Amino acid sequence: MYDLAIIGGGPGGYVAAERAGAAGLSVVLFEKRELGGVCLNEGCIPTKTLLYSAKVYNYAKNGGDYGVSTENASFDYGKIVARKDKVVKKLVGGVKAAMKAGKVTVVKSAAMIEGRSAEGITVSAEGEKYVSRNLLICAGSEAAVPPFPGLKEAGDVIVTNREILALQEQPKELVVIGGGVIGMEFAAFYNTLGTNVTVVEMLPKILGPLDDEISATLQKIYEKRGIKFCLRCKVTGIEGNAVVYEDPDGNVCKAAGDKILVSVGRRANLTGYGLENLGVDYLLNRGGKPCGIKVDEKMRTNIPGVYAAGDVTGFSMLAHTASREGEVAVNDILGKEDRMRYDAIPGVVYTNPEVAGVGLTEEQAKASGKEFEVIKLPMAYAGRFVAENEHGEGICKLIVGKKYHEVLGAHMLGNPCSEIIHSMCIAIEQEMTVEQLKEVVFPHPTVSEIIKETSFTIK
Ligand code: NAI
Repeated sequence: MYDLAIIGGGPGGYVAAERAGAAGLSVVLFEKRELGGVCLNEGCIPTKTLLYSAKVYNYAKNGGDYGVSTENASFDYGKIVARKDKVVKKLVGGVKAAMKAGKVTVVKSAAMIEGRSAEGITVSAEGEKYVSRNLLICAGSEAAVPPFPGLKEAGDVIVTNREILALQEQPKELVVIGGGVIGMEFAAFYNTLGTNVTVVEMLPKILGPLDDEISATLQKIYEKRGIKFCLRCKVTGIEGNAVVYEDPDGNVCKAAGDKILVSVGRRANLTGYGLENLGVDYLLNRGGKPCGIKVDEKMRTNIPGVYAAGDVTGFSMLAHTASREGEVAVNDILGKEDRMRYDAIPGVVYTNPEVAGVGLTEEQAKASGKEFEVIKLPMAYAGRFVAENEHGEGICKLIVGKKYHEVLGAHMLGNPCSEIIHSMCIAIEQEMTVEQLKEVVFPHPTVSEIIKETSFTIK
């Protein structure tokens, strides 16, 4: 009998296993692929490793901007991919070590939920049965691939985030369906390496939920670098190696590539592991179909002792959300007071320049009917940004409540905003005001000072 069985070894599952193990719970974790899940093996980590190689290449190519000459800067695609594999392997090894340290039993096999009885929840894997007092489902998500006519016939021209990471050859032409986070990160990577990239997006903007001003600026930057954006364009099918779409005027157009990346969102994994044997309630999409496991703020499902965390819950599909949700579930099992809050979940897009945001965007603040102010400054108001970003564009934008000046949102474009956005997560979590931010001593010279500078622009 285990205290906790976990299905899925991604950032939801392995972090929960680590915390539960450290607290002395006996834990069994089932993972059918590799520990680390999508994030570590085919998501966050490999893409960031590739994007870093692209950044280094970009620096080498443009060294002259910094008074450094580099002749014939070039790259070896095979070596870039090999380094990505090495980084992933190292970090998977780290997760394995953490499981060992927490005395977690790792079962490297697909798990099947058999059901729940007075004894506990029974999960089977490879003919063995495991009984546990609690179950945490962290089964993640898969890339959503719509049944576009001609998609099947296109064969391996079609790739998702999984297959594109395994390519051993750089595509010369890449068409990206969906200008969201995955689409833009791969578009940015291949554009830097010289691939011709076309992004076909059905909405009027890329990176839908992002602050409008920031996504428009990022789009302009990448347009200048050669990415072709087809916005308000509806994909109607695939013909051989071409994406067929309807432009805003109703014209039928085609964009051809040696690879076509489908990055139109992800779908929670709800089948194939016996979820139906528990009778969990589902979150329903607009069409009334299940799109996630329904949970409360403690990550509890409607079945006693059964929890869910991460992408399988069907919203906020981010690794850092999953890890925190896993911690909340474990704390509930341990009887510790905790609850999941979603007001200060940061989002980062690792383009170059990076984009980072947390809390309400200007558009969301307007829609919420709240009284608010927007204060903003170009990143160039931070000396360190100017020193390190020749021709670099950047914005820091704070959304603050009108009456109390509490921070409601923070949105930035410019390197390395991914590394400074957490301070605004703290500000929102702690309901800090702009006046309190002004009193904080920021290290000088750092790009982070832009936050303090921006806070001084409040009237
Ligand atoms: P997404 O939801 O971010 O973007 C999908 C885009 O595809 C949307 O802009 C949508 O309008 C568009 N789209 C949908 N159907 C379309 C069609 N038929 N034709 C043209 N465009 C269409 O989804 P994405 O990029 O696949 O990412 C999946 C998840 O992974 C997201 O939840 C994201 O947050 C997460 N992720 C996060 C990363 C990060 O934090 N840096 C990196 C990569 C993924």
